[in-house]
Amino acid sequence: MLFSNSLLACVFFTTCTASPKPPNQIRLPKPGGKYEVGLSITELTDHNRTQPFAPNGTLVQLMISVFYPVTHKHHAITRAYMTPETALIEDITLSSQGLAAPNGTFGKVVLQLASDQNIQSRKDKSSRAFPLVFFMPGEGTTRLFYNQIASTVASKGYIVVTIDAPYDVDVVQYSDGSFAYINQTLWANDNSDLASVALLAIQTRMADVSFVLDSLSGTTLAHSLVPNLPESGLNTTHTAMFGHSLGDCTAYSILDVEDRILGGLTMDGDLDGPPLLNGTSKPFMFIGSTNHTRENADDDPGSTWLSGWPQLLGWKKYAMVADTMHYDFSDYPILFETLGITPTNGTTFLMGDLKGKRALEIVTTYVGAFLDFVLLGKDSRLLDGPVKQFPEVTFEN
Ligand SMILES: *[C@@H]1O[C@H](CO)[C@@H](O)[C@H](O)[C@H]1NC(C)=O
Ligand SMILES: *[C@@H]1O[C@H](CO)[C@@H](O)[C@H](O)[C@H]1NC(C)=O
Ligand SMILES: *[C@@H]1O[C@H](CO)[C@@H](O)[C@H](O)[C@H]1NC(C)=O
Ligand SMILES: *[C@@H]1O[C@H](CO)[C@@H](O)[C@H](O)[C@H]1NC(C)=O
Ligand SMILES: *[C@@H]1O[C@H](CO)[C@@H](O)[C@H](O)[C@H]1NC(C)=O
Ligand SMILES: *[C@@H]1O[C@H](CO)[C@@H](O)[C@H](O)[C@H]1NC(C)=O
Ligand SMILES: *[C@@H]1O[C@H](CO)[C@@H](O)[C@H](O)[C@H]1NC(C)=O
Ligand SMILES: *[C@@H]1O[C@H](CO)[C@@H](O)[C@H](O)[C@H]1NC(C)=O
Repeated sequence: MLFSNSLLACVFFTTCTASPKPPNQIRLPKPGGKYEVGLSITELTDHNRTQPFAPNGTLVQLMISVFYPVTHKHHAITRAYMTPETALIEDITLSSQGLAAPNGTFGKVVLQLASDQNIQSRKDKSSRAFPLVFFMPGEGTTRLFYNQIASTVASKGYIVVTIDAPYDVDVVQYSDGSFAYINQTLWANDNSDLASVALLAIQTRMADVSFVLDSLSGTTLAHSLVPNLPESGLNTTHTAMFGHSLGDCTAYSILDVEDRILGGLTMDGDLDGPPLLNGTSKPFMFIGSTNHTRENADDDPGSTWLSGWPQLLGWKKYAMVADTMHYDFSDYPILFETLGITPTNGTTFLMGDLKGKRALEIVTTYVGAFLDFVLLGKDSRLLDGPVKQFPEVTFEN
């Protein structure tokens, strides 16, 4: 089912930019790559699977955001970073964790994007399918808190699909306005069976990615989400995946079972999903926080770097970014910097001293270089080892 709100939102925001900028709007930076970026949001229901973390019989129902490069003439528009209802939930949640985010904070934030007006004829020879890539968020954190990273990667020439994980991220809002909240019983820190909950979550997410791939190989859906595609639609046979935290475990384990995903990148995650039974020769990259060496990561009993790393038989790189912590690999740094608020609660927000703009630049530059390598066969010096432009980034063999 299509999220008709995305069309409405477009009309709404296009009209909106004709009038002066609302006084309270706070704009995130424009995605910095070669292309402007458009956004479609939709809801997909898998009638063949039920959610393991929801009341019995609840079908798998996913929200996805599709960020695509815009090559045709367009207007600049702004789009809300979150729906007003989700924004208020995040204001309240993050405030309770020690962030100065009074009601109304996240509702002010907008992305600077491009409209999908002026769609050229689908037969236009200049239309092209940019490579398709998937992103999944960390456990407990809505996909929307990675919108700026996703749109920046899209501006480099990728169609980036962020897939939410209902009942394991904090909140997912559906097109009818209803919510799926995290299953707090299962995800409680004192649940002695947390490791099996995490494993089931990763298995669910792996099936979600395959389901989204199946759905997007339908040309009607693909054309409704991404204007200006060639008639054949999206290229769903040559894709890649990146993810943060639990989303990264998905990007690792899925390499074993999903032929359409040719490489995976983890942003500060571990390898807690189903092991790769016979290893994989697909490329894999880790980019993570300062002290997240493979040795250190294995201090965490749930982590599997020492056993998982050797199962990566092909091209692989392990890079760490100085002055970062776990949530520097989300939009938090750029978002809080743009809003002018600094979290005081280190244990919850897990952010290092790196500036927001710099964190965004480093993360998206290395993700971009990895995708260029996997999907376009381009070599980059960035992936070979340390470079002068990014002294923050060091490699482990
Ligand atoms: C639905 O699930 C059943 C069993 O889980 C499987 O046999 C069948 O192939 C699935 N159908 C589709 C369309 O995926
Ligand atoms: C949490 O998950 C359990 C197990 O699947 C399920 O029975 C329960 O209904 C879920 N709770 C909520 C609030 O979704
Ligand atoms: C959950 O659903 C399954 C299949 O629909 C059914 O067999 C089972 O009895 C249900 N469990 C509960 C606790 O309702
Ligand atoms: C920091 O975050 C934790 C976990 O969310 C919370 O229990 C605690 O109250 C927060 N501390 C402050 C000072 O807000
Ligand atoms: C924030 O919004 C919530 C939900 O509407 C409300 O319960 C709460 O009182 C508000 N907080 C403040 C400080 O206005
Ligand atoms: C998908 O991309 C690959 C690699 O560029 C290419 O070989 C393949 O033909 C493409 N498939 C379609 C249907 O365009
Ligand atoms: C792994 O290798 C074994 C033995 O060669 C084979 O039987 C099995 O099917 C393989 N499993 C996968 C997932 O490829
Ligand atoms: C990394 O580890 C070193 C040595 O234990 C410590 O001094 C430093 O504070 C750590 N840095 C971060 C960002 O956690």
